[in-house]
Amino acid sequence: MPRVHILKPEIVSKIAAGEVIERPASVVKELVENALDAGADTISVELKESGKTLIMVKDNGHGIEQDDLKTIFTRHATSKIKDIGDLYSIRSLGFRGEALYSIAAIAHVTVHSKPEEQETGWGIHLRGGEDFHNRPCSFNGHGTEVTVKELFFNTPARKKFLKSNTAEIHQILNIFIPYTLLHNHIRFSLTHGHKQVLNVGPVPGRVNRMADVLNLNKQQLMEVKRDFPERDISVNLVLGDMNIKRTRRDMQFIFVNGRPVQNKAIGFHMNQVYRLIMPPETYPCFAVAINVPPENVDVNIHPTKREVKIKNEQDICAILRSLCEQALMTSGHAKQVTRHMTQGTREDVEQALLRTHASDITFDSDVPPEAHEITTDAGPASLRPTAEAGDYAYPRGQSLPGGKQGFFIPKNDLFAAKKDNLQSRLEQSRYIGNFSNKYLFFEIERSILVIDQHAAAERITYEQLIRQMEKGTIEVQHLLSPVLIKLTPQEILVWEEAKDKLETLGLSVTQWDEETIAVHTHPLFLKDLEKTMQNLLAGDNIAKCDHETMARRACRSSVMAGDKLSPEQAKHVRDQLIKCLDPFTCPHGRPTVIELTQDFLDKQFLRT
Ligand SMILES: Nc1ncnc2c1ncn2[C@@H]1O[C@H](COP(=O)(O)OP(=O)(O)O)[C@@H](O)[C@H]1O
Ligand SMILES: [Mg+2]
Repeated sequence: MPRVHILKPEIVSKIAAGEVIERPASVVKELVENALDAGADTISVELKESGKTLIMVKDNGHGIEQDDLKTIFTRHATSKIKDIGDLYSIRSLGFRGEALYSIAAIAHVTVHSKPEEQETGWGIHLRGGEDFHNRPCSFNGHGTEVTVKELFFNTPARKKFLKSNTAEIHQILNIFIPYTLLHNHIRFSLTHGHKQVLNVGPVPGRVNRMADVLNLNKQQLMEVKRDFPERDISVNLVLGDMNIKRTRRDMQFIFVNGRPVQNKAIGFHMNQVYRLIMPPETYPCFAVAINVPPENVDVNIHPTKREVKIKNEQDICAILRSLCEQALMTSGHAKQVTRHMTQGTREDVEQALLRTHASDITFDSDVPPEAHEITTDAGPASLRPTAEAGDYAYPRGQSLPGGKQGFFIPKNDLFAAKKDNLQSRLEQSRYIGNFSNKYLFFEIERSILVIDQHAAAERITYEQLIRQMEKGTIEVQHLLSPVLIKLTPQEILVWEEAKDKLETLGLSVTQWDEETIAVHTHPLFLKDLEKTMQNLLAGDNIAKCDHETMARRACRSSVMAGDKLSPEQAKHVRDQLIKCLDPFTCPHGRPTVIELTQDFLDKQFLRT
C-alpha cells in the first residue's frame, strides 16, 4: 500500500492551485475518486439532504495505514505522486493532496479505515480541520469509509449559495454517473435519505452498464473498441443508435485516461457524425473513452481537472469520426449515411443558410450556453465545422465559417414588410406547395412567403396551451393504455418533485416502476410524449417554472416534425398562425415566416 507524504514545495508550485469545494457534488467527486484510486471494486455513497447534512462514501480499497491517518488532512499530503517527473505521467485521479484538507476545513469529517494487513481498523475525527482524535474502530473487511457532516457549518456565506435539494442531487448524479459508466466491473450504489437512487452490480461490457444506469435499451447501443498499439492509443466507443434521441447533450460522456472530462472538440466531431442520421435539434447518446500515454495529457490545467488538454487532439478526433461513421454505417443505417455522405456538406451549408438569416434569434434560457458555442479551433481545415446543422450553431451576428457570406440573404429584404402588413398579406396569400415536409410556400403578388411548419406549429400550440392553462381548461387526450417512458435517475428525481405541476399542464403521469413513468393523459396538441417529458424534466427544476416556461418547454420540438401536410392542413396552419398574438416567432425566438420578394430574387439573378 502506498504511504502518504507531503509534497515538496517545488512540486506544489507547479500544481494548478486551489481545490474548491463548492457544493456537495464536489465532495462526492473527491471521495469517489479516492475510492477508485484505492483500487476498490465496491463503492457506496449515502446522502442526506442532498449531501448538505451527510455524505458517506465507503469503499473496499487498499485502506489507509493508522500512522497516515493524521497526515492525510495536511495540505499537499498524497500517496500518489512524489517527484516533479510524476506530474507528467499521472495515472491516478488524485495527485494534489488537497481534497481531504479542503473538505475537513469546512465540515465535520470522520475517516475509518482498515488496510487488509492491519489487524484492526482505525478512525479519526475532525471538525473544521481541528480537534481531532484518533482511535481504533471496528471495520468490516478492508477499505475506507469517509463521513462528511454539516457541510459549510463554519462558512455560512457559502452555505447560503447551495441550491434546492433537487438541484444539488442533480449535480451529484452528474458527477457520479460518469464514473459508474466507465467502471462496469465495480459495484456502485447511491442512496439519498431512504431512497436507493442507483444500485448496479458488475457486468461484462460498458453497453450493459450504460443500459443499467441510464435505463436504456441494450439493443440500441453498440460498442466499438480499437487499439492503435504503434501510438499507444486505445479507443472504446459506446454509440447509441438513432432511436436514442435527446433534446440535450445529457447522454454524452467523454473519458480520457479514466477521467470524465469535457472536451469541446471531441464532442463537436461526434455530434457532427451523428448529424448524418439524426433529425435536427436532437442529440445522440454516446460514451467515448480514450486512453493515451499519460504524458500526452495535461490534467493540470484546471483545479477540478474537468478540462484536459490532449496532445494531437486533431488526430484523435479524426480517428473517432471515422470509427463512429463506420460503426453507424454497418449497423443498419447504411442507407441514410451513404446518402448523406455525398450530399452532406451541401445540405449542411444550406441548412445553415436558412438558419442564419434569422439573425435576431433569441435563445431560450433552456438551451445550455455551450449549445450555442462554435468550436472553430477544433481541428484541421478538413475537419473544421462547416455547419452544425440542427444545432443553434451560430451565435448572433456570426457568419458561417469559411467566409461564405456571399450567399446570404440580406435581412432587410427578408423582413421588408412590417408586421401587420405581413399578417394581412399572409391572409390573402395562395398556397403553392411544400418543400421537404418542412416549409410551406405561399404566393402573393411580388412575394413568396415561406412558413416553417414546425416553428409555426410550435407557436400555435404554445399560445393555445397558455390560453388553456390560464383558464384552467386544458384539453386533454385520455390514453386507452398508458404510454410508458423510461427516465434517467436524474429525470425520475425531477419528475417526483414536479408531478403535481405537470397535472396543470394536462399531463397525468404515475410511476410505473423504479425507472419508468406511465403517461395517462396529455395535452391534445402535443404528439411526441417522450420528447415532451425529456424537455420538461431537463434543466432548471420544472416545479419552479411559471406556466409560460412550462408551455414553452412542452412545445419544444414536440409538434409536427417532418409531417407531410395536405394543402388544407397547410392553409389551416397559416390561418391559425395569423390568429396568434405573436405570429412571427416561435416560442424559442426563431422566425416562423420569411418573405422572399421579387426584388430580392431579381437581384439574385442579376436582373437589376
Ligand atoms: N478512500 C481512500 N482509500 C485509500 N486511501 C485514501 C482514501 N482517501 C484518501 N486516501 C489517502 O489520502 C491521501 C490524500 O487524499 P486527497 O486529499 O484526496 O489527495 P489526493 O487524492 O490528491 O492524493 C491520498 O493520497 C491517499 O493516500
Ligand atoms: Mg483525492
